[in-house]
Amino acid sequence: MSDSLIKFSSGEFVPLEMHKVRVVQKLNLLPVDERLKAIEGAGFNTFLLQNKDVFLDMLTDSGTNAMSDQQIAAMMVADDAYAGSASYTRLYEAIVEVFNKKYFLPVHQGRAAEHIISQVFVKKDNVVPMNFHFTTTKAHIELAGGKVTELYTDEALKIKSNVPFKGNIDIKKLEACIAKLGKENIPYIRMEAGTNLIGGQPFSIQNMREVRKVADANGIMIVLDVSLIAENLYFVKVREEEFKNKSIKEIMTTMCDLADILYFSGRKISCTRGGGIVTNRQDLYLAMRDLVPLFEGFLTYGGMSVREIEAMAVGLRETLDENFVNQEPQFIKYLVDRLDAKGVPVVTPAGGLGCHLDAKGFLPHISQLQYPAGALAGALFIISGIRGMERGTISMDRDANGNDVPAEVELLRLALPRRVFTLSQIKYVEDRVTWLYENRNLVGGLKFTEEPKVLRFFVGRLAPTSDWTVKLIAKFKKDFGESL
Ligand code: F0G
Repeated sequence: MSDSLIKFSSGEFVPLEMHKVRVVQKLNLLPVDERLKAIEGAGFNTFLLQNKDVFLDMLTDSGTNAMSDQQIAAMMVADDAYAGSASYTRLYEAIVEVFNKKYFLPVHQGRAAEHIISQVFVKKDNVVPMNFHFTTTKAHIELAGGKVTELYTDEALKIKSNVPFKGNIDIKKLEACIAKLGKENIPYIRMEAGTNLIGGQPFSIQNMREVRKVADANGIMIVLDVSLIAENLYFVKVREEEFKNKSIKEIMTTMCDLADILYFSGRKISCTRGGGIVTNRQDLYLAMRDLVPLFEGFLTYGGMSVREIEAMAVGLRETLDENFVNQEPQFIKYLVDRLDAKGVPVVTPAGGLGCHLDAKGFLPHISQLQYPAGALAGALFIISGIRGMERGTISMDRDANGNDVPAEVELLRLALPRRVFTLSQIKYVEDRVTWLYENRNLVGGLKFTEEPKVLRFFVGRLAPTSDWTVKLIAKFKKDFGESL
């Protein structure tokens, strides 16, 4: 594999950038007191921060990846037409080439695909088995009257692990689940490439082949969420013996051929916006087709602008470029391995998407009912201007009785949008996270002050349970003096 890990004369291997920066955006690092005001103004919810107050935006890789010069150039030749635009034809050709499937439905983003798939296939009281849920996936399946069951392996939720494919489905649990529920109550099995909420962890092709066998034996289809497939392809290549000499394209085809329906968030996979649903089966295509004009837009744009469509076509093809798929995971590994070596609790092995701090291990003195991952997100922003995303108990909605549901894993995700950050910025992250870990006893919990019922993590507001922010800032000033 062409590998951007370059050996320096010191002996160190460094993930050297295989791209250069030709368009820049100015960053702002506010003084610590202003950072406190900003997070207070945002109700200690990093979703509610203004980007102008953020130094390194590690909230997500969704819609924040850097486009290539080729993508921007493609946007200039976009062909505007309500129906039948040449831009759509170019995207369609890229879809066939990249995913090896012939039917395509464009949608405005990933959750719109989830909406259509679940409205069409999920009936009341159906259960959808999956390796792990994603927030919007679960919400859409439940909206359609169904439920989600997660059949991850015992290793998946372990923070410290050297298992290469923590995103695998446990095949025994899958067989038992089908036997118990009856195949007629299972509309499809969902697999998520680069499993988001457990730390961007991949599944193996071997595992997917086994899932396929079980699916075939029971006449159940497989829906594959390919939003984060790029890094999963990379991990198959470097961690699964059979594929070490295969091209990314061959691995992509092997994986996609094992699924009946693929869907994606273009905000992730193609560094654009938009999304899509892809299949080779005409019956499935026809079952979903009419919902696209109803909810999204005509079949040749699905809510996307033609400029996005052009950039998506190029971005999807770039997913087959080895230097593209290895960039993010190698940067993540660089950060994760360094933090791990210093004893900072991080999810290992390094996955895709970002570096995931284990908030339970980081802040063991904070009960899950006082939201350690949310508190860690607030504290890190105050001491660094780095915006992460809570992926823990705040991201779970309350149960039917109004009780908090403690998340199985309580993580702070520091996403690394593709091709966006430089290595010195990553070193800054390493430095400030390490400092916060050394001063972790100064961080306290949070409580809700405003709490929506559904997907509360997006717009809910919280406040510290004590005056811990004052003490944290005093220590920061003592150690860093005038430095921001
Ligand atoms: N599937 C996965 C695996 C995702 O990570 C996301 C979005 C979606 C579906 C929904 O796609 O946002 O385009 O509607 N993940 C974003 C994130 C929000 O920050 O991880 P969307």
